[in-house]
Amino acid sequence: LAKIIFDGDYGIDDALATLFLLGRDDVELVAVGTVHGNAPADAAAANALQVLDVAGRRDIPVAVGAQRPLAQPLDISALVHGEDGLGGHASPVPELRPEPVSAAEQLVRIARELPGECTVVATGPLTNLALALLLEPRLPELVRNVVVMGGTTREPGNIGPFAEANIWHDPEAAALVLGAGWPLTLVGLDVTMRTWLDQSDVDRIAAAPGRKAEFAHAILQHYLRFYRGRHSRPGCPLHDPSAAVLAVRPDLARCEKAPVRVELRGEHTRGMLVVDRREFAEPDGPLIDVAAEIDRDRLVAEFLAGLLELV
Ligand code: BDR
Ligand code: CA
Repeated sequence: LAKIIFDGDYGIDDALATLFLLGRDDVELVAVGTVHGNAPADAAAANALQVLDVAGRRDIPVAVGAQRPLAQPLDISALVHGEDGLGGHASPVPELRPEPVSAAEQLVRIARELPGECTVVATGPLTNLALALLLEPRLPELVRNVVVMGGTTREPGNIGPFAEANIWHDPEAAALVLGAGWPLTLVGLDVTMRTWLDQSDVDRIAAAPGRKAEFAHAILQHYLRFYRGRHSRPGCPLHDPSAAVLAVRPDLARCEKAPVRVELRGEHTRGMLVVDRREFAEPDGPLIDVAAEIDRDRLVAEFLAGLLELV
């Protein structure tokens, strides 16, 4: 059983990633933390609680995390996911409340209680993970591995010419997390843009029974509209779900090991990832696994199977 701590900014694809994980028998979603990004951290927590409720999992704790980045002003990206983060479908469940601790504290507590057992899946800015590393310097030894949706190392960014949103929203936090020396897999935009959910896949979700499928289909509409204007191929990319799938099915990607740096001072490149791919250079930082190629068809099939509980 893979024990997962999920940390996200609860936009539409964070919600889909969570629903996927909840549909798998081989996953125990231990806790959820939320962070600024697609929505403010507290609104993201209300979204997370709603998503868990949709899946009938009110038992899973949700903690509000960082309300702002470490070293730059807060900037919420409402365009892609709508003002409420869920494409107009946010509907807070009044009786559900977040835990009375921060997401970073929750992460540290669980990692100490279950040393070496948990996988952290991070699908938003990395502020909570950075704070948790500051609270508990032994965190890298206490978690099993970390899977991050963020960055891009071979193709353009989505929020700047080179920067991907999750890294750009808190580059200092990303630098701490990517440099912490823990087993980390980076699932970047260059890979997730190729895990495209086609119209035929959307039709399968529309036709599936149950509250989860109905909710997933509803929140997808805003996301599909956003991408319709920007890409010739109908459908949408599966950013955060790809990280969630690869957390349980790492065999669906080929990774390369490389040191990855976050550009913090570039005038036009802040938030960009710099990968040292020189063959004979001595790595001057910890190596991380950078997803380079994915098996799109099998990844999408796994995602739909978990989301629609066909497994
Ligand atoms: C990332 O940014 C957010 O909008 C998505 O939820 C995803 O985590 C993609 O760049
Ligand atoms: Ca996200």
